[in-house]
Amino acid sequence: MSIIRITMAAVAHARALPLTLAIVITAFAATPASAQGPSGNQWVAPERASHRTNPTPVTAEAVKRGSDLFRRDCEQCHGKSGHGDGPQSGSLQPRPADLASERVQLQSEGAIFWKISEGRGMMPRATLNESEKWSVIAYLRTLATPR
Ligand code: HEC
Repeated sequence: MSIIRITMAAVAHARALPLTLAIVITAFAATPASAQGPSGNQWVAPERASHRTNPTPVTAEAVKRGSDLFRRDCEQCHGKSGHGDGPQSGSLQPRPADLASERVQLQSEGAIFWKISEGRGMMPRATLNESEKWSVIAYLRTLATPR
């Protein structure tokens, strides 16, 4: 049992390695300010949660549903395009994250799922069911700032 679990963990690590390297390289290439969270201390999802993946296919319908939920539950803080500039953002400390930024977009969907589920400080725990959360994440991916 435990040997199987260890083996599975090792396989997951091996798969994640190129991605981890890419993130580490990007973090080093970025300026110190952009490598930090809005609060100045990074918000890092636990390793295990970060490996979680969306169990449902990302369809145009799911993205549309995510967009509607984002407008209802997230836009007031994160802004229409996710840049952290919603009408409520000015009163928040730390400021809401720029969800279109490379720093957020490079995170795995599992890590984002975990953050939305847990919340931190001024970022509330989302009152969405699992499938709604995956839809919102599918929509978030469309906000990535073009490079
Ligand atoms: C009341 C304002 C508010 C609402 C509503 C809100 N957020 Fe946030 N969000 C924040 C703030 C503030 C932070 C920064 C928290 C921190 O770093 O301590 C944040 C951080 C995040 C992060 C983490 C980014 C990082 O630093 O890695 C994600 C992802 C996120 N929000 C997604 C969402 C989604 C999706 C919704 C809607 C379901 C949402 N938020 C609703 C205020 C809000």
